[in-house]
Amino acid sequence: MKVLGIETSCDETAAAVVEDGVRVLGDVVSSQVAAHRPYGGVVPEVASRHHVINVTPVLRTALDDAKLTLADIDAIACTRGPGLVGALLVGVQTAKALAYARKLPLVGVSHLEGHLTAVHLDNPEPPGFPHLALLVSGGHTQLIRVDGFGQYRLLGTTRDDAAGEAFDKVAKLLGLGYPGGVVIDRLAKTGDPKAIHFPRALPGRTLDFSFSGLKTAVRVWVEKHGIPTGQAMNDLAASFQQAVCDALVRKAVKAARQENLREAQLGGGVAANSQLRRDLAAALAEDDVKLHVPPPKRCTDNAAMIAAAGYHRLVRGERAGLDLNPQASLPL
Ligand code: KG4
Ligand code: ZN
Repeated sequence: MKVLGIETSCDETAAAVVEDGVRVLGDVVSSQVAAHRPYGGVVPEVASRHHVINVTPVLRTALDDAKLTLADIDAIACTRGPGLVGALLVGVQTAKALAYARKLPLVGVSHLEGHLTAVHLDNPEPPGFPHLALLVSGGHTQLIRVDGFGQYRLLGTTRDDAAGEAFDKVAKLLGLGYPGGVVIDRLAKTGDPKAIHFPRALPGRTLDFSFSGLKTAVRVWVEKHGIPTGQAMNDLAASFQQAVCDALVRKAVKAARQENLREAQLGGGVAANSQLRRDLAAALAEDDVKLHVPPPKRCTDNAAMIAAAGYHRLVRGERAGLDLNPQASLPL
């Protein structure tokens, strides 16, 4: 079954064709980063307008790359939430129009479920079930027990900022531009993570996270010392990143032990972080837990993960009607 996926939840316009939920035939992501950069963050209205302009060419390119036409497509899947409602609306309306015109089955997918399904794409050895998922993106930080496709149990979540949000806000504070996660990742490579000690929140038994105190600690440090330059900036980036990674790793290890899970996956945009990938794999390996991580381009937003998640819903018999609507805060 060839599913055409459409993703427009935030600032990437994406379309992809995936066969049987695993083989990626075409996969196009058009980033709006340049349009939002002058504002230091995503502007919802600007995002919606760019999606309107980009969605058709992106769809066409994904089909061309797959050497297919719409006549070869068996079903349409789109992200219906969570995300910016105006941005989601563009993808949902496009999907509905295509499904109606071509008389194809339609399914709406959770963006978070998409991130959890990305690890199965073009992967000869995906994680088995049950497994632990650490989902870290710009909007979410969650520990999830995954018992099968569509079978999820939330074990822990952030009580304030998401991990990616912390990266982006700290980067903005330091004048490193938007989006900041990838810049901090790069600077931290040559920084000393022990240079500054930042707090690790919620050290107790809970599997929840909190990153707003860490963000404030960086602000207080900057108010006292000013914005550093050169090596001192790299040290600050490394110390901050170490604090985020420590918190994520510690809770993930705790969750795997609590649920007695032998496999885990790391997903979402922050899963592209080089230190998190390394540290989490090493810490879980000490408990004989195998970590699966998609390649970085499948960690950040894409439509292949939406097509794959949609495939499993379609196989279970799910169909959306033309009354499908976006839901800005859709739970997993
Ligand atoms: O999953 P995603 O592409 O979009 C959402 O669903 O939110 O995640 C975007 C987030 C941003 O906060 C971005 O700064 C962060 O992922 N990110 C990173 C890295 N690459 C992207 N954070 C840390 N290190 C990276 N290399
Ligand atoms: Zn995402």
